[in-house]
Amino acid sequence: MASTTRVQYDLARIQTFFPALAALGNRFAAERPWEGLTIGLNMHLTTLTATLVRELMLGGGRFVLAAANPATTDGAVVEYLRELGVEVHTGAGRSDAQTAVVAAKPDLVGDVGFALGEELLRASFSPPLGLVEITGTGIDRLRKRAAIPFPVLNINDGKLKTAIENRHGVGEGLWQAYTALTGQHLAGRRVRVIGYGRVGAGVAAYAKAGGAVVEVVDTDPVRQLIARFDGHVPVEPDAVTRPHVVVTASGTAGALSLAHMAKLPEDAVVINAGHGPEEIDVAALADEATEVDHIGPRVVRYRHPAGGHIVVLGHGSPLNIVMNAGSNEPVLLHFTLLALGLRWLREAPRPAGENKLPHHLEAEVARLWLPGVR
Ligand SMILES: NC(=O)c1ccc[n+]([C@@H]2O[C@H](COP(=O)([O-])OP(=O)(O)OC[C@H]3O[C@@H](n4cnc5c(N)ncnc54)[C@H](O)[C@@H]3O)[C@@H](O)[C@H]2O)c1
Repeated sequence: MASTTRVQYDLARIQTFFPALAALGNRFAAERPWEGLTIGLNMHLTTLTATLVRELMLGGGRFVLAAANPATTDGAVVEYLRELGVEVHTGAGRSDAQTAVVAAKPDLVGDVGFALGEELLRASFSPPLGLVEITGTGIDRLRKRAAIPFPVLNINDGKLKTAIENRHGVGEGLWQAYTALTGQHLAGRRVRVIGYGRVGAGVAAYAKAGGAVVEVVDTDPVRQLIARFDGHVPVEPDAVTRPHVVVTASGTAGALSLAHMAKLPEDAVVINAGHGPEEIDVAALADEATEVDHIGPRVVRYRHPAGGHIVVLGHGSPLNIVMNAGSNEPVLLHFTLLALGLRWLREAPRPAGENKLPHHLEAEVARLWLPGVR
């Protein structure tokens, strides 16, 4: 199937099965909230993002997009968006695309991982209406900065994202991607989850539902205890328990280091469900491996310098995103919130720095996704 046809089919499917998005687009078409504005977005360039951008564009304005991560960029989506009239920057280096979006002087910004936020701070340019941050990693990054001179709406810490996307969206999608790449069933396999926050708890719950035995590592003993009461086995990071699969979900670079990997059994599969590509130290593994075997486009088998093999899926980038796997619903739901968040920033001047998500925005999203219920 030609890639443009694939994108068109995907968009038609989403429009049919998720009428909340069209309802949102119809509102924007009536309100035209972005008329005369430049909207800068830093997003994973998947067909889901294409759907969001298409609905947003019905509200007028100029759209400039950066690819959040080359590993999650779908070339056919880039082509489609450019045909729609969106300026898309994929960038050669890790921040080139973000630099290009900031150079367009956006009035309003939507960001993942606060990458555009950091670039705005570097360029000393404040988007007059502010920025919506989608991810937990982005919120952590912005809180490390002394003062943010523009409003930031935090949509990560609402009730919906944590309850639905982080937990169910990643948990379901990650294991679908694992099965698609390996063909393996989870039943009876030992799975280690590193980081038992919202994402890790979902990854663990779906693995357990698939018949796996789950062990959990977390630097916070409170999370370890909660994991135990959820029915998983808490273990130390260096515990030698011979897991078949190790999943990182901590948001911390190097959560699975080369030294940790030396202790894993032969052909252990390692997967990242967290944010960037650094949670698993794939760079060190690739540098020091004594053999590298590309089993498939996203399946690489390395011979660890200490002996034994490690199989990395998705090059260490978040696998559910790399594979565009799982139900689309949690992500689309969160995108609805992003769109309404941009409109909230547009409606009135908001204070500089982090703004908590107002409950009424989440209630509006819930009403869009539960038509006829309330
Ligand atoms: N793959 C996706 O589609 C997706 C979706 C949402 C969020 N995320 C990302 O997943 C990551 C986790 O999100 P969350 O909402 O679960 O965050 P969270 O803060 O709720 O959980 C992170 C957990 O990891 C633990 N931790 C931190 N460093 C650790 C380490 N080195 N070893 C062991 N445990 C460690 C923390 O104590 C915490 O319990 C974030 O980076 C987030 O951006 C990914």
